[in-house]
Amino acid sequence: MILVIGDIIVDEFIWGDVTRISPEAPVPVVSVHRIDRRLGGSANVVRNLHALGVRSAMLGLVGDDEPGDWVRQRLGELDSDDRGVITKTNQRPTAIKTRIIARHQQVVRYDREWTQPASRESHERLMACVEELAPQAQATILSDYGKGVLTPAFIRRLIERLKGGVIAVDPKPEHTDAYHGATVITPNLSEAAAMAGMDPLNEDQHVARIAAELHRRLGLRYVLITRSERGMTLYDGAESHHIPTAARDVFDVTGAGDTVIAVFTACLARGDDPLRAARLANCAAGVVVGKVGTATASWDEIGRQQ
Ligand SMILES: Nc1ncnc2c1ncn2[C@@H]1O[C@H](COP(=O)(O)OP(=O)(O)OP(=O)(O)O)[C@@H](O)[C@H]1O
Ligand SMILES: [Mg+2]
Repeated sequence: MILVIGDIIVDEFIWGDVTRISPEAPVPVVSVHRIDRRLGGSANVVRNLHALGVRSAMLGLVGDDEPGDWVRQRLGELDSDDRGVITKTNQRPTAIKTRIIARHQQVVRYDREWTQPASRESHERLMACVEELAPQAQATILSDYGKGVLTPAFIRRLIERLKGGVIAVDPKPEHTDAYHGATVITPNLSEAAAMAGMDPLNEDQHVARIAAELHRRLGLRYVLITRSERGMTLYDGAESHHIPTAARDVFDVTGAGDTVIAVFTACLARGDDPLRAARLANCAAGVVVGKVGTATASWDEIGRQQ
């Protein structure tokens, strides 16, 4: 089982048609045909683990509301333990990003979220769940979407507690120093450059320097930098491996980072060496960028991409 700790977001899509302009204000009136929802943010990592047949436990916050209930139900369908999903009974709503799309065009997106740091009480409850679940976990993913669950102090506590096991971090540059002692970070190039205080130049030698700098500064075992159409670079403390993208067609790159950390961590957890893990993660990313919508990859699809 793999623990996923971070910011749970619901991605909502409202599909419809525009037939007229509102008499109330100069805005289009959308008549709705269909509403879709997907687990997003850190919970998209859970979707990716499920596609690999890997059990997970999600730890994060939802509100005392209907989207929060939906999150729990959906996690259950994905065979994910939700005891670490804390329901906040105060004002904090479940984070939900809603897109209204008419005739293939996004008309508006509205976000309902709360990005204040989680309370001390929430962190204590999350920590208690970590204590409960850690003995069954092969690895932990800290999926930092910067929405308040992973504060620097809480990140440090988690790494201290889980040290000895695999801890993979999808980082936010603002929290760089807190990731000290994790196993691996998986920033994209612009995040990695910001974390190292270097230019985001997408060139092998330069990316290798960024990776080595972060490896040294943060005492990591590996650094995996994703580089969009240039694939990814793995630094293992001795050398850099540049892995070209495996994508054949590119339709939608959103969520590829979640796929990378899910596959890389699942591979490390089962004992693969880091280079093999990175190659498989890169193949999986190649699969998902070829699908429309925040997609996932199965082992079969990853194998076919190789
Ligand atoms: N335009 C592209 N062409 C080919 N491969 C791509 C492209 N974009 C992403 N990839 C693949 O997906 C991986 C992750 O993409 P990227 O570096 O954009 O991560 P990211 O910015 O964290 O993504 P996310 O939007 O999920 O946060 C890359 O390492 C590469 O394998
Ligand atoms: Mg990312």
